[in-house]
Amino acid sequence: MNSLKRFNSPVRISSSSQILKSFSNKSDCMKHLKPPVVEEAKRLGILLKDDCRKNKTKDKLCDEIKEKYSPVRISSRKCSPQILKSFSNKPDCLKNLKPPVVEEAKRLGISLKDDCGKNKTKDQLCDEIENKIDKDEDVFKKINRKHIADHYDKIVLNQDLYTVEKDRTKNLRRINNFIKAGILMNYVNKNNVVLDLGCGKGGDLRKYKSLKIKKYVGVDVSEKSIQEAISRVRYLKPSFVAQFCVNDAYNDKLLFSGAPNQFDVITSQFSFHYAFFDETSLETSVFNINTNLKPGGFFIITVPRKNVIINRVLKHRAHNSLYSITDVNPKSNDIDSWKNYNFSLCGSINKCTEYFVNFLKLKEMLEKEKIYLEERTPFVCLLKKYIRKHENLFTQMKINNPNAEEKEIIGLYEVIVFRKSNFKRS
Ligand SMILES: C[S@@+](CC[C@H](N)C(=O)[O-])C[C@H]1O[C@@H](n2cnc3c(N)ncnc32)[C@H](O)[C@@H]1O
Repeated sequence: MNSLKRFNSPVRISSSSQILKSFSNKSDCMKHLKPPVVEEAKRLGILLKDDCRKNKTKDKLCDEIKEKYSPVRISSRKCSPQILKSFSNKPDCLKNLKPPVVEEAKRLGISLKDDCGKNKTKDQLCDEIENKIDKDEDVFKKINRKHIADHYDKIVLNQDLYTVEKDRTKNLRRINNFIKAGILMNYVNKNNVVLDLGCGKGGDLRKYKSLKIKKYVGVDVSEKSIQEAISRVRYLKPSFVAQFCVNDAYNDKLLFSGAPNQFDVITSQFSFHYAFFDETSLETSVFNINTNLKPGGFFIITVPRKNVIINRVLKHRAHNSLYSITDVNPKSNDIDSWKNYNFSLCGSINKCTEYFVNFLKLKEMLEKEKIYLEERTPFVCLLKKYIRKHENLFTQMKINNPNAEEKEIIGLYEVIVFRKSNFKRS
């Protein structure tokens, strides 16, 4: 995260200020003596010492001042440190009031009474929560998180490689983008506040720019992807405030600065299947959606379709020259127990573990929070519909009609939209 710290607060600039101008680009800034540069840095909240506690050079300060003056308003920091991991060690846990500690203990299946039937103290509960999290935030979860983060980090690091293979999926990426654009046009309005879980390299930022949203928060477990997304904001210069966080969106509890329930739209494109790692991940994900979504707001996901994958695997047809699904685990007669598989896509994803989406379970859990199903549509149907509806965009994006192999991949996905009830809980 260190490299991201400098984006800490949204920067607003006023072009009329004389002083501003004289520091706003590096060569002008360097013309000053060091003391006024130091003053300007202080005014902008820039630290004067580096990580080794040495005074920063004028050159370094001017670099950071220039960053602050960038006309793009970006903020990037760990989301909500006050909630995130606030139970994962005893001292942090003790900082909470007792009721949330009790809630966390309940969630983790810890008994609230001791052997003599007396209510456990906060201290006792925090002890047990720490133990439980240490054991339960199990090795698998940590390994899995690292596996996925490394996977997507590597994609960013290797993005100039495999260009021939990448070319083969160029049309497919455009089609996916076209369909996503159609969905977002349907559900996102001007001035909306949007939370994008598993935002990746910010592939949807341009769409939000056209939709003129007010604020965008992107969360991803891959730090390299987030760095790439920040560069993209700098390049696109959208009018909205963008904030990015490197977090596990499906295992860390997320509460953002500002108010709870502040998002008009929460979206997770080609990512929410990672929330199905286990029961706790799904519970945390539902908590994150419910805590952050406005009444009346939409929760929109694009995910792989379990039944389609299973049918293809059973017929030994879950592959073509562009994609493959392998290592289904466990592949038994009891399809309900099928948990995960490895997915590869030509030129980008190489045997990344993905989890089957249990639609009914998700629907049931969201309904308990008064978040109801709005639509569930296969990607192929949306493609047909949007080609008619947004013909110009389809042409502008230079998309070819999908060939048979591309159609098979498009057929793997569906869009599911939920909407939070407008009515307050009784
Ligand atoms: C296929 S990419 C999709 C990126 C983007 N949403 C898009 O549509 O272009 C999946 C993204 O989900 C992210 N991801 C996977 N597991 C995650 C988790 N537990 N928390 C946050 N992001 C996660 C990956 O790092 C990756 O960037």
